[in-house]
Amino acid sequence: MSDVLDEVRDHYRATGLTEQLKAALAVIGPESQRLTPQQLAPLDQFHTRGLAATIELAKLAEIDAGSLILDVGSGIGGPARFLAATYGCQVTGVDLSEPFVDAARYLTDRTGLSRQVSFQTASALELPFGQGRFTVVLLQHVAMNISDRVQLYREIRRVLKPRGRFATFDVVANSGEPHYPLPWARTRATSFVLSATATRKAIETAGFRTLAWQDDTEAAKVWFAQLRASGPPPAPNLGTVMGPDFAQVAANLGRSLLDGRVGILTAVFEAAQIHT
Ligand SMILES: C[S@@+](CC[C@H](N)C(=O)[O-])C[C@H]1O[C@@H](n2cnc3c(N)ncnc32)[C@H](O)[C@@H]1O
Repeated sequence: MSDVLDEVRDHYRATGLTEQLKAALAVIGPESQRLTPQQLAPLDQFHTRGLAATIELAKLAEIDAGSLILDVGSGIGGPARFLAATYGCQVTGVDLSEPFVDAARYLTDRTGLSRQVSFQTASALELPFGQGRFTVVLLQHVAMNISDRVQLYREIRRVLKPRGRFATFDVVANSGEPHYPLPWARTRATSFVLSATATRKAIETAGFRTLAWQDDTEAAKVWFAQLRASGPPPAPNLGTVMGPDFAQVAANLGRSLLDGRVGILTAVFEAAQIHT
């Protein structure tokens, strides 16, 4: 793997995460108690606006019981479990971080969803699947860690069936450098935000047609303002996963949005009929 991928993986290297989660989740109930995706949402929806954003993206992507979903950069699996529990569909997640994949499997077991949801450690730039395997690919708050967008979107196109949908929810560049450290990168060395226009061009070049295109920056600003006023949710939350300074790091994203340095984009694309 490249040096940059190693650095990104280090950022999400939460050693001993599963054991920490086991201990932290004791406040909700004993190990034998089944958990719901809603109970886990404060800690396993690792993106702006949390579960609300996943709910909206799923609707926009027209997910249903027959969807075969790949969640690229699936984190500790919150979006994958929510979709499987809500729609009854099958979801596969891939993520660069082995501790995240291990934690995702543990949490999936705790929610009783292991027959519908599975996870693998892999790079988004080299997806371990054959051509045309999925009907929907999700990418939520991952692209900003990936410099080779041509390869990323080509890989997503390759594993989608013709007319399959690609739903993305990501941070995009506006004007000026964002305030570091950020939830996805402590420095600019592992942050690769692209403008919304450049993102659309890269995706369409990979063989996609745009179906939906939404600037969600204002909704994200409102959400960060509410978070600032109310403080982080009670533990366990994303601080349990990313460390005690996570609330301050997340606040830097809120500040970068307010200052107009970055924006939030939601978009859905359809895979062209012919493989490129
Ligand atoms: C901010 S988290 C978002 C996790 C998840 N999508 C969610 O919304 O809950 C970014 C995730 O992308 C993963 N990631 C970053 N670069 C990746 C790559 N090249 N291949 C696979 N996963 C990657 C990280 O390991 C991390 O789990």
